[in-house]
Amino acid sequence: MENNGVKSVSGSKQKTHLRELSINCDRWYAIARSTEVQTAPVAAKIWNRAIVLFRDSAGKINALEDRCPHRQVKLSHGKIKGDLIECAYHGWRLNTSGECAEVDYLAENQKLPNCKIRSYPIKEQNGFIWLFPGDATQALKIDLLDLPEWEHLNYIATVSVIDCQAHYSFLIENLMDMYHGHLHEDLQAWANPVLDTLTEDEHQVTVRYQAQSYYKIDKIWSISQLFFKSLRKLHPEPLEVSYVYPHWVSTLGSDFKIYCLVCPVSETATRAYLIHFTSLNAFWRLHKLPVWFRKFIKDSCFGAAQKLLDGLVRQDVLMIEEEQQAFLHNSERKSYELNRALASVERLIRSQAENG
Ligand code: FES
Ligand SMILES: [Fe+2]
Repeated sequence: MENNGVKSVSGSKQKTHLRELSINCDRWYAIARSTEVQTAPVAAKIWNRAIVLFRDSAGKINALEDRCPHRQVKLSHGKIKGDLIECAYHGWRLNTSGECAEVDYLAENQKLPNCKIRSYPIKEQNGFIWLFPGDATQALKIDLLDLPEWEHLNYIATVSVIDCQAHYSFLIENLMDMYHGHLHEDLQAWANPVLDTLTEDEHQVTVRYQAQSYYKIDKIWSISQLFFKSLRKLHPEPLEVSYVYPHWVSTLGSDFKIYCLVCPVSETATRAYLIHFTSLNAFWRLHKLPVWFRKFIKDSCFGAAQKLLDGLVRQDVLMIEEEQQAFLHNSERKSYELNRALASVERLIRSQAENG
Protein backbone atom coordinates (compact mmCIF):
# COMPACT_ATOMS: atom_id res chain seq x y z
CA MET A 1 0.00 0.00 0.00
CA GLU A 2 1.35 3.41 -0.88
CA ASN A 3 0.92 6.33 1.44
CA ASN A 4 2.80 9.63 1.18
CA GLY A 5 5.89 8.16 -0.40
CA VAL A 6 6.04 5.33 2.13
CA LYS A 7 5.10 1.74 1.36
CA SER A 8 3.72 -0.43 4.05
CA VAL A 9 5.03 -3.96 3.63
CA SER A 10 3.47 -6.40 6.08
CA GLY A 11 3.36 -3.83 8.83
CA SER A 12 6.88 -2.40 8.36
CA LYS A 13 7.40 0.89 6.55
CA GLN A 14 9.61 1.04 3.51
CA LYS A 15 10.54 4.06 1.37
CA THR A 16 8.92 4.18 -2.07
CA HIS A 17 11.52 3.89 -4.79
CA LEU A 18 12.33 7.19 -6.54
CA ARG A 19 11.14 5.69 -9.86
CA GLU A 20 7.72 4.97 -8.39
CA LEU A 21 7.11 8.28 -6.65
CA SER A 22 3.99 10.27 -7.43
CA ILE A 23 3.81 13.97 -8.31
CA ASN A 24 2.60 17.02 -6.42
CA CYS A 25 -0.76 17.52 -8.15
CA ASP A 26 -1.21 20.97 -6.62
CA ARG A 27 0.93 22.58 -9.30
CA TRP A 28 0.28 23.94 -12.81
CA TYR A 29 1.36 21.60 -15.61
CA ALA A 30 1.63 22.43 -19.33
CA ILE A 31 -0.68 19.81 -20.79
CA ALA A 32 -0.75 20.96 -24.43
CA ARG A 33 0.44 23.69 -26.75
CA SER A 34 -2.16 26.34 -27.57
CA THR A 35 -1.92 25.45 -31.25
CA GLU A 36 -2.84 21.80 -30.54
CA VAL A 37 -6.39 22.73 -29.50
CA GLN A 38 -8.41 24.27 -32.34
CA THR A 39 -12.07 23.55 -33.08
CA ALA A 40 -12.25 19.86 -32.13
CA PRO A 41 -11.92 18.31 -28.65
CA VAL A 42 -8.43 17.03 -27.85
CA ALA A 43 -7.52 14.12 -25.56
CA ALA A 44 -4.66 14.67 -23.13
CA LYS A 45 -3.32 12.85 -20.09
CA ILE A 46 -1.65 13.83 -16.85
CA TRP A 47 -0.68 11.41 -14.11
CA ASN A 48 -3.19 8.74 -15.18
CA ARG A 49 -6.05 11.21 -15.54
CA ALA A 50 -7.65 11.26 -19.00
CA ILE A 51 -8.62 14.83 -19.87
CA VAL A 52 -10.52 16.38 -22.75
CA LEU A 53 -9.58 19.92 -23.78
CA PHE A 54 -11.88 22.08 -25.85
CA ARG A 55 -12.60 25.70 -26.70
CA ASP A 56 -16.02 27.28 -26.13
CA SER A 57 -17.69 29.71 -28.53
CA ALA A 58 -15.51 32.56 -27.24
CA GLY A 59 -12.34 30.52 -27.84
CA LYS A 60 -11.77 30.07 -24.11
CA ILE A 61 -10.14 26.80 -23.16
CA ASN A 62 -11.90 24.23 -20.91
CA ALA A 63 -10.82 20.94 -19.38
CA LEU A 64 -13.06 18.06 -18.29
CA GLU A 65 -12.55 14.41 -17.43
CA ASP A 66 -12.45 12.56 -20.74
CA ARG A 67 -15.46 10.41 -19.86
CA CYS A 68 -19.11 10.65 -20.80
CA PRO A 69 -21.24 10.19 -17.66
CA HIS A 70 -23.76 8.13 -19.70
CA ARG A 71 -21.68 5.09 -20.71
CA GLN A 72 -18.13 6.18 -19.85
CA VAL A 73 -16.82 6.44 -23.43
CA LYS A 74 -14.33 9.18 -24.26
CA LEU A 75 -15.79 12.64 -24.75
CA SER A 76 -12.80 13.49 -26.91
CA HIS A 77 -14.43 11.47 -29.73
CA GLY A 78 -17.25 14.03 -29.75
CA LYS A 79 -17.84 17.51 -31.13
CA ILE A 80 -18.15 21.05 -29.84
CA LYS A 81 -21.59 22.62 -30.12
CA GLY A 82 -21.35 26.26 -29.06
CA ASP A 83 -20.37 26.18 -25.41
CA LEU A 84 -21.22 22.48 -25.00
CA ILE A 85 -19.32 19.30 -25.74
CA GLU A 86 -21.39 16.60 -27.45
CA CYS A 87 -20.65 12.92 -26.90
CA ALA A 88 -20.16 10.88 -30.07
CA TYR A 89 -22.30 7.95 -28.89
CA HIS A 90 -25.86 9.13 -28.04
CA GLY A 91 -25.23 12.85 -28.37
CA TRP A 92 -25.58 13.97 -24.74
CA ARG A 93 -24.23 17.47 -24.38
CA LEU A 94 -22.29 18.67 -21.32
CA ASN A 95 -21.52 22.22 -20.28
CA THR A 96 -18.08 23.57 -19.35
CA SER A 97 -18.70 22.69 -15.67
CA GLY A 98 -19.17 19.04 -16.64
CA GLU A 99 -22.96 18.92 -16.11
CA CYS A 100 -25.38 17.26 -18.47
CA ALA A 101 -27.11 20.17 -20.24
CA GLU A 102 -28.99 18.71 -23.24
CA VAL A 103 -30.23 15.31 -24.40
CA ASP A 104 -32.20 15.38 -27.65
CA TYR A 105 -34.29 12.26 -26.95
CA LEU A 106 -35.39 13.23 -23.44
CA ALA A 107 -39.10 12.34 -23.04
CA GLU A 108 -41.52 14.94 -21.71
CA ASN A 109 -41.81 13.19 -18.38
CA GLN A 110 -38.04 12.79 -17.98
CA LYS A 111 -35.58 15.15 -16.33
CA LEU A 112 -32.00 15.68 -17.40
CA PRO A 113 -29.78 13.19 -15.56
CA ASN A 114 -28.28 14.78 -12.51
CA CYS A 115 -24.71 13.80 -13.35
CA LYS A 116 -21.52 15.75 -13.28
CA ILE A 117 -17.98 14.92 -14.34
CA ARG A 118 -14.91 16.65 -13.00
CA SER A 119 -13.77 19.94 -14.50
CA TYR A 120 -10.22 21.22 -13.97
CA PRO A 121 -8.77 24.70 -13.46
CA ILE A 122 -7.14 25.65 -16.74
CA LYS A 123 -5.23 28.64 -18.14
CA GLU A 124 -3.77 29.59 -21.46
CA GLN A 125 -0.56 31.56 -21.25
CA ASN A 126 2.67 31.96 -23.23
CA GLY A 127 1.70 29.52 -25.98
CA PHE A 128 0.71 26.68 -23.63
CA ILE A 129 -2.40 25.28 -21.97
CA TRP A 130 -1.79 24.81 -18.24
CA LEU A 131 -3.85 22.46 -16.09
CA PHE A 132 -4.06 22.16 -12.30
CA PRO A 133 -4.79 18.46 -11.60
CA GLY A 134 -4.99 18.73 -7.81
CA ASP A 135 -7.23 20.46 -5.28
CA ALA A 136 -8.99 23.19 -7.31
CA THR A 137 -9.28 25.43 -4.26
CA GLN A 138 -5.46 25.72 -4.26
CA ALA A 139 -5.14 26.73 -7.92
CA LEU A 140 -5.40 30.47 -7.32
CA LYS A 141 -2.71 30.36 -4.66
CA ILE A 142 -0.12 28.73 -6.91
CA ASP A 143 1.69 30.63 -9.70
CA LEU A 144 2.41 29.02 -13.00
CA LEU A 145 5.90 29.28 -14.45
CA ASP A 146 6.38 32.50 -16.36
CA LEU A 147 8.08 32.47 -19.77
CA PRO A 148 8.65 36.19 -20.37
CA GLU A 149 10.70 35.50 -23.51
CA TRP A 150 7.69 33.92 -25.26
CA GLU A 151 6.16 37.30 -26.12
CA HIS A 152 9.31 39.41 -25.90
CA LEU A 153 10.36 40.64 -29.35
CA ASN A 154 14.08 40.10 -28.65
CA TYR A 155 13.80 36.33 -28.39
CA ILE A 156 13.49 33.63 -31.04
CA ALA A 157 11.73 30.48 -29.80
CA THR A 158 11.96 26.82 -30.81
CA VAL A 159 9.78 24.12 -29.23
CA SER A 160 10.58 20.42 -29.22
CA VAL A 161 8.17 17.86 -27.79
CA ILE A 162 9.62 15.12 -25.60
CA ASP A 163 7.57 11.93 -25.37
CA CYS A 164 9.40 9.31 -23.39
CA GLN A 165 8.32 6.02 -21.90
CA ALA A 166 9.91 6.66 -18.54
CA HIS A 167 9.28 8.05 -15.07
CA TYR A 168 9.75 11.83 -14.99
CA SER A 169 12.65 11.56 -12.51
CA PHE A 170 14.88 10.14 -15.29
CA LEU A 171 14.19 13.22 -17.43
CA ILE A 172 14.87 15.69 -14.62
CA GLU A 173 18.13 13.93 -13.76
CA ASN A 174 19.16 14.10 -17.39
CA LEU A 175 18.45 17.83 -17.47
CA MET A 176 20.25 18.57 -14.20
CA ASP A 177 23.39 16.53 -14.87
CA MET A 178 25.39 18.55 -17.39
CA TYR A 179 28.08 15.88 -17.55
CA HIS A 180 25.79 14.09 -19.97
CA GLY A 181 26.94 16.55 -22.69
CA HIS A 182 29.21 13.62 -23.60
CA LEU A 183 26.19 12.03 -25.28
CA HIS A 184 25.49 14.95 -27.60
CA GLU A 185 29.00 15.48 -28.99
CA ASP A 186 28.73 18.13 -31.74
CA LEU A 187 25.09 19.01 -31.02
CA GLN A 188 25.89 20.39 -27.59
CA ALA A 189 26.27 24.13 -26.99
CA TRP A 190 28.46 23.70 -23.91
CA ALA A 191 31.69 21.87 -23.12
CA ASN A 192 33.85 20.96 -20.11
CA PRO A 193 31.33 21.60 -17.30
CA VAL A 194 32.53 21.61 -13.68
CA LEU A 195 29.96 21.76 -10.91
CA ASP A 196 30.53 24.98 -9.01
CA THR A 197 27.65 25.74 -6.62
CA LEU A 198 24.51 23.93 -5.58
CA THR A 199 21.57 25.44 -3.69
CA GLU A 200 18.28 23.84 -2.74
CA ASP A 201 15.12 24.62 -0.81
CA GLU A 202 11.65 23.09 -0.65
CA HIS A 203 10.73 24.43 -4.12
CA GLN A 204 13.85 24.17 -6.23
CA VAL A 205 17.36 22.91 -6.83
CA THR A 206 19.78 25.22 -8.65
CA VAL A 207 23.16 24.10 -9.91
CA ARG A 208 25.80 26.35 -11.39
CA TYR A 209 28.49 24.85 -13.57
CA GLN A 210 31.57 26.57 -14.87
CA ALA A 211 31.58 25.67 -18.53
CA GLN A 212 32.74 26.71 -21.95
CA SER A 213 30.60 27.55 -24.93
CA TYR A 214 30.85 28.80 -28.47
CA TYR A 215 27.35 30.21 -28.21
CA LYS A 216 27.35 33.99 -28.46
CA ILE A 217 24.80 35.68 -30.68
CA ASP A 218 26.31 39.11 -31.25
CA LYS A 219 26.96 39.15 -35.00
CA ILE A 220 24.63 38.31 -37.84
CA TRP A 221 26.79 35.32 -38.77
CA SER A 222 27.00 34.03 -35.17
CA ILE A 223 24.14 31.66 -35.80
CA SER A 224 26.25 29.78 -38.37
CA GLN A 225 28.35 28.42 -35.48
CA LEU A 226 25.41 26.25 -34.59
CA PHE A 227 25.74 24.42 -37.87
CA PHE A 228 29.46 24.59 -38.74
CA LYS A 229 31.84 23.16 -36.19
CA SER A 230 34.89 24.83 -37.76
CA LEU A 231 33.51 28.30 -36.93
CA ARG A 232 33.18 27.60 -33.21
CA LYS A 233 35.43 29.23 -30.63
CA LEU A 234 35.04 28.18 -27.04
CA HIS A 235 34.97 30.82 -24.31
CA PRO A 236 34.07 30.49 -20.60
CA GLU A 237 30.35 30.86 -19.85
CA PRO A 238 28.38 30.15 -16.66
CA LEU A 239 25.86 27.36 -17.13
CA GLU A 240 22.97 27.33 -14.68
CA VAL A 241 20.26 24.69 -14.41
CA SER A 242 17.28 24.89 -12.04
CA TYR A 243 14.64 22.35 -11.19
CA VAL A 244 11.85 24.73 -10.25
CA TYR A 245 9.39 22.00 -9.33
CA PRO A 246 7.82 20.64 -11.49
CA HIS A 247 9.61 22.38 -14.36
CA TRP A 248 13.19 23.12 -15.40
CA VAL A 249 14.99 26.28 -16.52
CA SER A 250 18.53 26.75 -17.80
CA THR A 251 20.72 29.64 -18.94
CA LEU A 252 24.05 29.48 -20.71
CA GLY A 253 25.70 32.89 -20.73
CA SER A 254 23.34 35.68 -21.67
CA ASP A 255 22.14 34.63 -25.14
CA PHE A 256 20.75 31.19 -24.45
CA LYS A 257 17.81 30.10 -22.32
CA ILE A 258 15.90 26.82 -22.22
CA TYR A 259 12.79 25.78 -20.34
CA CYS A 260 11.43 22.28 -19.97
CA LEU A 261 7.75 22.11 -19.06
CA VAL A 262 7.21 18.66 -17.62
CA CYS A 263 3.88 16.83 -17.82
CA PRO A 264 4.15 13.41 -16.13
CA VAL A 265 1.65 11.10 -17.87
CA SER A 266 2.03 8.03 -15.64
CA GLU A 267 4.67 6.19 -13.60
CA THR A 268 6.30 5.08 -16.85
CA ALA A 269 5.53 7.86 -19.35
CA THR A 270 6.38 11.55 -19.50
CA ARG A 271 5.59 14.29 -21.96
CA ALA A 272 7.53 17.52 -21.82
CA TYR A 273 7.97 20.64 -23.90
CA LEU A 274 11.50 21.89 -24.40
CA ILE A 275 11.52 25.57 -25.32
CA HIS A 276 14.73 27.16 -26.48
CA PHE A 277 15.17 30.92 -26.75
CA THR A 278 17.95 32.68 -28.59
CA SER A 279 18.37 36.29 -27.56
CA LEU A 280 18.73 39.09 -30.10
CA ASN A 281 19.58 41.55 -27.34
CA ALA A 282 22.98 42.36 -28.86
CA PHE A 283 21.41 43.75 -32.05
CA TRP A 284 20.50 47.21 -30.78
CA ARG A 285 19.74 48.54 -34.27
CA LEU A 286 17.05 45.92 -34.65
CA HIS A 287 15.26 47.18 -31.54
CA LYS A 288 14.78 50.61 -33.13
CA LEU A 289 12.76 49.16 -36.00
CA PRO A 290 8.93 49.25 -35.99
CA VAL A 291 7.26 46.70 -33.73
CA TRP A 292 5.40 45.02 -36.63
CA PHE A 293 8.72 44.35 -38.35
CA ARG A 294 10.34 42.98 -35.18
CA LYS A 295 7.31 40.74 -34.70
CA PHE A 296 7.66 39.60 -38.30
CA ILE A 297 11.32 38.67 -37.65
CA LYS A 298 10.40 36.85 -34.43
CA ASP A 299 7.59 34.89 -36.09
CA SER A 300 9.57 34.08 -39.24
CA CYS A 301 12.49 32.73 -37.20
CA PHE A 302 10.26 30.62 -34.89
CA GLY A 303 11.65 27.08 -34.90
CA ALA A 304 15.08 28.11 -36.26
CA ALA A 305 16.82 25.62 -33.94
CA GLN A 306 14.30 22.80 -34.56
CA LYS A 307 16.65 20.24 -36.09
CA LEU A 308 19.25 20.83 -33.42
CA LEU A 309 16.78 20.61 -30.55
CA ASP A 310 14.97 17.54 -31.95
CA GLY A 311 18.34 15.84 -32.44
CA LEU A 312 19.29 16.44 -28.79
CA VAL A 313 15.89 15.18 -27.62
CA ARG A 314 16.19 11.95 -29.64
CA GLN A 315 19.55 11.16 -28.07
CA ASP A 316 18.30 11.90 -24.55
CA VAL A 317 15.05 9.93 -24.93
CA LEU A 318 16.93 6.82 -26.02
CA MET A 319 19.04 6.89 -22.83
CA ILE A 320 16.13 7.75 -20.52
CA GLU A 321 13.94 4.94 -21.88
CA GLU A 322 16.78 2.45 -21.48
CA GLU A 323 17.18 3.53 -17.87
CA GLN A 324 13.46 2.90 -17.30
CA GLN A 325 13.62 -0.52 -18.95
CA ALA A 326 16.63 -1.45 -16.83
CA PHE A 327 14.72 -0.40 -13.70
CA LEU A 328 11.66 -2.46 -14.68
CA HIS A 329 13.88 -5.44 -15.40
CA ASN A 330 15.67 -5.22 -12.07
CA SER A 331 14.65 -2.53 -9.62
CA GLU A 332 17.16 -3.75 -7.01
CA ARG A 333 20.24 -3.10 -9.10
CA LYS A 334 22.36 -0.32 -7.62
CA SER A 335 23.46 2.64 -9.74
CA TYR A 336 26.56 4.67 -8.93
CA GLU A 337 26.41 8.46 -8.96
CA LEU A 338 29.15 11.09 -8.94
CA ASN A 339 27.08 14.24 -9.48
CA ARG A 340 25.92 15.50 -6.08
CA ALA A 341 23.10 17.50 -7.70
CA LEU A 342 21.17 14.28 -8.21
CA ALA A 343 20.80 13.65 -4.47
CA SER A 344 19.21 17.11 -4.18
CA VAL A 345 16.91 16.34 -7.10
CA GLU A 346 15.75 13.16 -5.38
CA ARG A 347 15.11 15.03 -2.13
CA LEU A 348 12.95 17.60 -3.95
CA ILE A 349 10.97 14.99 -5.90
CA ARG A 350 10.40 13.01 -2.71
CA SER A 351 9.27 15.98 -0.59
CA GLN A 352 6.97 17.30 -3.33
CA ALA A 353 5.43 13.87 -3.89
CA GLU A 354 4.82 13.58 -0.16
CA ASN A 355 3.19 17.02 0.04
CA GLY A 356 1.01 16.50 -3.03
S1 FES B 1 -22.16 7.34 -23.97
FE1 FES B 1 -22.11 9.44 -24.17
S2 FES B 1 -24.08 9.95 -24.80
FE2 FES B 1 -24.17 7.87 -24.46
FE1 LIG C 1 20.62 16.25 -23.23
